[in-house]
Amino acid sequence: MSSIRGEFSSRFGFIMAAAGSAVGLGNIWGFPTQTASNGGAAFVLAYLVLAFCLAYPALMAELVIGRHGQANAVTSLQKLANNSIQKRFAFIVGFGGIICSGLILSFYAIVAGWMFSATLEPIAVISGSESATSWLGEQSLSRNLIFTAAFILLTVAIISKGVENGIEKWSKRLMPALLFILFALIAYVLTQDGAMEGVKAYLVPDFGSILDPNLLVSALGQAFFSLSLGTSVMIIYGSYISKQENLVSLGAYVTLIDVFIAFVAGMLIIPAMYVAQAQGVEIFSQTGELLSEDTLVFQVLPALFDSMGGIGIFIGFAFFALMSIAALTSSISMLEAPVSYAVEKFALARVHATRLIGVIVSVVSVTIILNFNSLFGFVVQLTTQFAQPLIGMLCCVFAGWIWHRGKLLNAIKEGNESVENSFFWKIWPWYIKFVCPLAIALVFINSL
Ligand code: PHE
Repeated sequence: MSSIRGEFSSRFGFIMAAAGSAVGLGNIWGFPTQTASNGGAAFVLAYLVLAFCLAYPALMAELVIGRHGQANAVTSLQKLANNSIQKRFAFIVGFGGIICSGLILSFYAIVAGWMFSATLEPIAVISGSESATSWLGEQSLSRNLIFTAAFILLTVAIISKGVENGIEKWSKRLMPALLFILFALIAYVLTQDGAMEGVKAYLVPDFGSILDPNLLVSALGQAFFSLSLGTSVMIIYGSYISKQENLVSLGAYVTLIDVFIAFVAGMLIIPAMYVAQAQGVEIFSQTGELLSEDTLVFQVLPALFDSMGGIGIFIGFAFFALMSIAALTSSISMLEAPVSYAVEKFALARVHATRLIGVIVSVVSVTIILNFNSLFGFVVQLTTQFAQPLIGMLCCVFAGWIWHRGKLLNAIKEGNESVENSFFWKIWPWYIKFVCPLAIALVFINSL
């Protein structure tokens, strides 16, 4: 198990780390709000199909590329190249993923900073400090700068400890905590008036909207974001998996946990919206659509917590702590992508590489905060709607077209001798060769 590069020490450790990367604000915030604004259960159905049929095969491509390469994303992809043109192409895809990952971190840290301050707000309320309560609760430059920096610092602190003592150790602690808080909150919300109406809106699909191209584009983008695809993160996490492990089942576990938590988070957020409505909080906009995104998380839910009386403070605290933990296990994976490249390519010490990249990401974050209206939406769109599907698709092209099929089989076979006769091997190579690139390209062109 011990190599100089670091490796996950156990199967459980990898699953917690990769699921920690996958389960983030995308699941607990993005998925429920997208569901709310895209026709409820129809979106859920489209998401489930796309996650298993397109995102899981793409995840497998990234994991196997990483485990075979045993190196950062650029080097791992370059190991598959047969000539200098392919090598250059490998660099563009791998490095593109690394940049994408850094850019995602720079906006993700801002949102995670909001979650941090919202977690502390109930504490300020209890301590009776009005000025702290209002500073924590209202958007301001100083608050955003401080909490974004705090979040990046925490991420840097974990990543500088390396794979086993940083990523794995913290994922193994934080992921069970996340599950516990999530289920406790659901148990509470489902007992409240109005919750069942929310459950119905969430689970009974309106089939009319299922083939709506916008719904499909949103569901595919959501599935890719949620599984951290197209950012080189899963390539680098794959490179830390031992060759004795069965990749096919590991990838399946990660996908199942990710989809399951998104689904379960919907069981919290959507019923909570209807509970809020039953208590007089507005959840529909003037045009009759469900409120979504930041209005939902930062106005509807806090209004609900306020209306619950004394217990609301604790529920609010638990809710935003849940969001913060989810964000942290994802952000560490985003930072690992550029750090692993800097360490391996420039022979930097991990601590130095982590700090250096932490500073670069902070500079980008501050630039976004200072130009929030023009930059935030732009960076989100550029990375999540444009770069992630495109790079994810190119990784499929690498595994499906550039990698020799016999060699690909050998790579998958390690830790899984009988894979050749499995259902997986019968369809997956064909899938990453034709179905994934075509489907992603189609959805992508549609979205332009
Ligand atoms: N998957 C994470 C989420 O759902 C976000 C993420 C994107 C993490 C890209 C790593 C890389 O919130």
